[in-house]
Amino acid sequence: MTERPPVTLARIAEMHAAGEQIVMVTAYDHPSARAAERAGVDMILVGDSAAQVVLGYDGTAPVSLDEMLMLARAVRRAVRTAFVVVDLPFGATELSDEQAVASSLRLVKEAGADAVKLEGGQPARLSRIRAIVAAGIPVVGHIGLTPQTATALGGLRAQGRTVDTALRVAQEALDVEAAGAIALVVEAVPAAVVAEIRGALGIPLIGIGAGAADGQVLVHHDLLGITAGRTARFVKQYAALGDAMAEGIATYATEVRAGEFPSAEHTYPVADDVLDQVRAHLAARGH
Ligand code: KIV
Repeated sequence: MTERPPVTLARIAEMHAAGEQIVMVTAYDHPSARAAERAGVDMILVGDSAAQVVLGYDGTAPVSLDEMLMLARAVRRAVRTAFVVVDLPFGATELSDEQAVASSLRLVKEAGADAVKLEGGQPARLSRIRAIVAAGIPVVGHIGLTPQTATALGGLRAQGRTVDTALRVAQEALDVEAAGAIALVVEAVPAAVVAEIRGALGIPLIGIGAGAADGQVLVHHDLLGITAGRTARFVKQYAALGDAMAEGIATYATEVRAGEFPSAEHTYPVADDVLDQVRAHLAARGH
């Protein structure tokens, strides 16, 4: 594969202007980031969906900034070309603009994030975006279904299906752009509503459950079929790795139990004289 130049803010703007689709996928560790990088995606999101798909929490709210930092560092070590966005987790920005800037600085300085992602488009969130941008850190917005505050939205459900919520989503999109975001993730909003919003925006709109957009994002574990149980309506599974993983481990267990693994090809050879000396050593000690 030919070396690709790193994806920069300028390249993202260029892709948007040229109408090229921006491909984003989540990654949370070195192997998932390496796979995304090898696949040639444009943007990698170290999403706080890690809380559920990697760390086993029952929502995104519990994941801490320190946990996100550890995951983001592993991703960063695998990535040479994709633009790396790291989620600001719940609790890392809620107290003040200063806290939001401090958390964002940690993601940039300690994990090498190219940008941070912040959920929400209400006035306090806009103030956080302005403060982080003023500190020189690019921000990706996230509106529509915002899992960190899903309880306040009535659960993990599509947004923008009523006049009130569609108008709210549309206004938040405009406000997040005006606050200085470089791109906007819109989650679980009807495609027709998103089409109208997209036409009004100057920044790329990256959809997840949002129909046609300037780019798409999916969660690594969902698209590869690793997520257990039901997935959201907007998930398309491109592989069944969860089944392949379970099958692989089950075959290993069967072979270990049957004494078939390890076979000679998976063990190290040794010269006879070394073995003779080991035997003599043990025998001299009564074994
Ligand atoms: O955390 C995440 O994975 C996300 C995507 C769903 C956009 O925010």
